[in-house]
Amino acid sequence: MELAGKIALITGAGSGLGLATARAFAREGATVMINDIRPEAAHAAAAEIGPKHRGTGGDVSKEAEVAKMVDETLKAFGRIDILVNNAGVPDSFVPTVDQPLSHWQRLIDIHLTGTYLVSKTVAPGMIARKSGVMINLNSIAGVIGLPVRTAYSAAKAGIGMMTRVLACEWGPHQVRVNAIAPGYIMTPLTQGLIDAGRIDPMRIRRRTPMGKLGVPEDIAEAMVFLASDRAKFITGITVPVDGGYCSWGAPSDAFPDEMMQAD
Ligand SMILES: NC(=O)c1ccc[n+]([C@@H]2O[C@H](COP(=O)([O-])OP(=O)(O)OC[C@H]3O[C@@H](n4cnc5c(N)ncnc54)[C@H](O)[C@@H]3O)[C@@H](O)[C@H]2O)c1
Repeated sequence: MELAGKIALITGAGSGLGLATARAFAREGATVMINDIRPEAAHAAAAEIGPKHRGTGGDVSKEAEVAKMVDETLKAFGRIDILVNNAGVPDSFVPTVDQPLSHWQRLIDIHLTGTYLVSKTVAPGMIARKSGVMINLNSIAGVIGLPVRTAYSAAKAGIGMMTRVLACEWGPHQVRVNAIAPGYIMTPLTQGLIDAGRIDPMRIRRRTPMGKLGVPEDIAEAMVFLASDRAKFITGITVPVDGGYCSWGAPSDAFPDEMMQAD
């Protein structure tokens, strides 16, 4: 058990990557507080994982709601050892010139401001105990340029830099801050984009050296590693978990057609 006795708060964990991470943390012995803006999803996820885990509602972009969810976690479990800033929503894929400002603001609020708010609310306890781990959700969109994902990409790149800044600021207090940049992972968010015709899974497979989309457990296992003491001298980095997507730079397909046919 890599996380025995640890207390984790995971935002947006009623679904997708957050839920897979909650399951993996529970398997490794952690007790998990599952936050989601959909409280019923948070409670259902906690119940599914086991009786010692809890769910809480709350919007990560609202300061008062963040204070409440952190307070609730501290009242229930006494401390927070691991924070995963996972809550997020996809971009609209509308051309930048046609986007209303409110769209930009919403994406920045949820991803960038949300990560900032939850981190700064959880940090004082970690700093006081001289121990803690934070893991943020970056994205391949925060590392390389993807058209029409203006706000999402800017927010994720901002999260990448905030990860470094906070790692530097809180390193002296032994609080580690890292990020994971998932590639295309099959979650409800990704399925929604496929269903809406915004992304094409076959094109993604061609563009990915490993020739497939990831599964939520691929992210969850990287989370377990970064949260565990095996990563105790790792801070300030963004780990790509993308099947090689961000490494590919050649003008041809990354996954050969004949291998795709053979699958
Ligand atoms: N799935 C991918 O391929 C992929 C790739 C790169 C990055 N990401 C990032 O990973 C994270 C999780 O994505 P996912 O694919 O699991 O999505 P998902 O839609 O399956 O889950 C996201 C969860 O966040 C919750 N949420 C949304 N806004 C919230 C808010 N303001 N406060 C609290 N909870 C909120 C939703 O209700 C949902 O349950 C996101 O930050 C996303 O940007 C996902």
